[in-house]
Amino acid sequence: HSRQRLVVGNWKMNGSLAENASLLNGITAHWQGAEGVETALCPPYVYLSQAAEALSGGPIKLGAQTVSEYSNGAYTGEVSGAMLADLGCRYVIVGHNERRRMQGETSDRVAEKFHAAQQAGLTPILCVGESEQERDAGMALETIGHQLLVVVKRVGLEAFARAVVAYEPVWAVGTGKTASPEQAEEVHRFIRAELGELGARTQILYGGSVKPGNAEQLFALPDIDGALLGGASLNADDFVAICRAAA
Ligand code: G3H
Repeated sequence: HSRQRLVVGNWKMNGSLAENASLLNGITAHWQGAEGVETALCPPYVYLSQAAEALSGGPIKLGAQTVSEYSNGAYTGEVSGAMLADLGCRYVIVGHNERRRMQGETSDRVAEKFHAAQQAGLTPILCVGESEQERDAGMALETIGHQLLVVVKRVGLEAFARAVVAYEPVWAVGTGKTASPEQAEEVHRFIRAELGELGARTQILYGGSVKPGNAEQLFALPDIDGALLGGASLNADDFVAICRAAA
């Protein structure tokens, strides 16, 4: 299909100066064969400068794991979109299920963060996905549809021309369980349809226990444009192998 493939590594709360240096070095040193893919790494905030320096001038872009919905002011501990852009970020993840569940991020706040990211010139990677109970209750598409609709109401459908969507079934994140290709493709097709005319252009990533062993099968599906990786992005060989599978 015509959409560019995209692989994003979300390091979550992992790493150290020393570990990051060897991971970044391992990735850049073995990049051959992955040239055709668009790719980004999202380290913890405190390591953005380190990663920016290591990746500067190369093909791998920088992203952040979240962003404040505010532009500046008395918001202790928060980081604005302008600050992320200042450090060289191109992407920012918004609405990751770990933040929705553990930091109490509602879909309304996620919509504000999506807007703030775009205002700062960043490309938001909007995460959506159902819990295991929602899937078992036959509510997966309804849940995802609602998560999307709240954002669409805030920013308008046209905003998705400059955004990425990531489908992450909560039950597949960090569990070793992956959605079957049929389950993933059904949801991706649904998301594309919900985005109307722009749906044909928007990159939609799959996330949840993607590994070198299952990446190729997922990327072969017509509506899957790449992956949002957690665990596999912490291993240079795995990360590069998945990027090669997407290239
Ligand atoms: O942001 C990444 C996702 O939460 C996937 O994590 O690949 O460790 O399952 P995982």
